Amino acid sequence: RQNERESLLIVLNFAKTFFQETLQTSDEGKSIGLCYFRERGFTNPTIEAFELGYTLDQWDSLLKEGQRRGYSQELLEKAGLILSKEGGKVFDRFRGRVMFPIHNVSGRVIAFGARILKTDKNQPKYLNSPETAVYHKSQVLYGIFQAKQAIRQEDVCYLTEGYTDVISLHQAGIKNVVASSGTSLTTEQIKLIARFTPNVTILYDGDAAGIKAALRGLDMVLEEGLNLKLLLLPDGEDPDSYVHKVGADAFKTHIKEHSQDFIDFKASRWLTEAGDNPLKRAEGISDVCASITKIPDPLKRQTLSQRVAQVFHVSEQSVISEINRLVRKQQ
Ligand code: UTP
Ligand code: MN
Ligand code: MN
Ligand code: MN
Ligand code: MN
Repeated sequence: RQNERESLLIVLNFAKTFFQETLQTSDEGKSIGLCYFRERGFTNPTIEAFELGYTLDQWDSLLKEGQRRGYSQELLEKAGLILSKEGGKVFDRFRGRVMFPIHNVSGRVIAFGARILKTDKNQPKYLNSPETAVYHKSQVLYGIFQAKQAIRQEDVCYLTEGYTDVISLHQAGIKNVVASSGTSLTTEQIKLIARFTPNVTILYDGDAAGIKAALRGLDMVLEEGLNLKLLLLPDGEDPDSYVHKVGADAFKTHIKEHSQDFIDFKASRWLTEAGDNPLKRAEGISDVCASITKIPDPLKRQTLSQRVAQVFHVSEQSVISEINRLVRKQQ
C-alpha cells in the first residue's frame, strides 16, 4: 500500500514537471498556454509558485513520455493521468488544457485541475483528476500548501471557490487563501483549516451558486466550532476578477468593511426579504437559530442569542426558547 502510494506520487510529480516543461519550452505551450496565463495577469513567480503547466492538444503526449521514462500504463492509469477504453485504446486524460497541480499539505502533487482555453459548451471548463489512492477530493483544499504559513501568521483563512481565486489573491500578496474547488465544503476540509487557525472567512462568488454554497458551508463551519465571517463579492465578480479590478489594497479594505458574521449575514438577507411581514421575520429568526444550534460551545450559543434578539428586535427569551425547541427537535 505504502509503496503504491509512493509510486503514484512519483508519477504525478513526473507529470507535473512534464506539463511545466511543455508550458515553458514547447511552441504550443508558449503560444497558447503561457499566453493564456499572461492574459489572466499571472506573473512568472506566480506560475512557478503554483507549478502551473500546459498539456499539448494531442492524444498521447504524456503517455508516450511516461512510457519512455519507464512508467507502466497501469501506474499512469491508477494516477488518473490516462484513460483506457474497451478495445484497448489508451490516451491522455488531459489534452490541450492549462494545468493546475493540486498539492497536499506537504507540497506533493496528488491531482490536477485542467482548464480549457476557450469556452466550449460541449466540454467542462475544468476537468479534474478522478479519486485515486492518493487523491480524495473531499479531504483536499486547493492552495493549502502555499497558504499554510500565512494562515498561521494572519490567524485567518480565506475560503474561496476556485483555483484562480487562490492564485490571484496570492499574487496580490493575500496568501492566506484556499479553495474548496467547486465542491460543497466538507467536514474534512474544515478540520484541515482548523489545524492552522480557528478563524474562517468565506469569500464566495457573488452569484446565486455562490450564495447557496455559502449558506451550506456556514452551518458546517459552525459545527466544527470555528469562528466564521462571510463576504459575497459584488454580483458577477469572484475574488480573482475583483482583485484584478480594484487592486490588493482596495480588496483588503473591502474585506474589512463588508465581511459579516453569520448572524448579520443571514439576518440582513431575511430582514430585506421580510420587510413588515411578521411571519417572514419569524421564519428568519428560526433560520438563524437553527445555525446557532450547530455551535458546540453552549457559552457561545448564549451570547449569540442576545445578538439575534437585538438584530430582530425581539426578546432574548423568545430566541432562547426557539433554540431550545430546535435542539429538542434534533434529538
Ligand atoms: P467557477 O465557475 O467559479 O470557475 O468555478 P473559476 O474558478 O472562476 O474559474 P475561471 O476564473 O473561469 O478560470 C469554481 C471552481 O469550481 C470548480 C473549479 O475548481 C473552479 O475553480 N469547477 C468549475 C470544476 O471543477 N469544473 C468546472 O467545469 C467548473
Ligand atoms: Mn462556482
Ligand atoms: Mn462561480
Ligand atoms: Mn469563480
Ligand atoms: Mn473566475
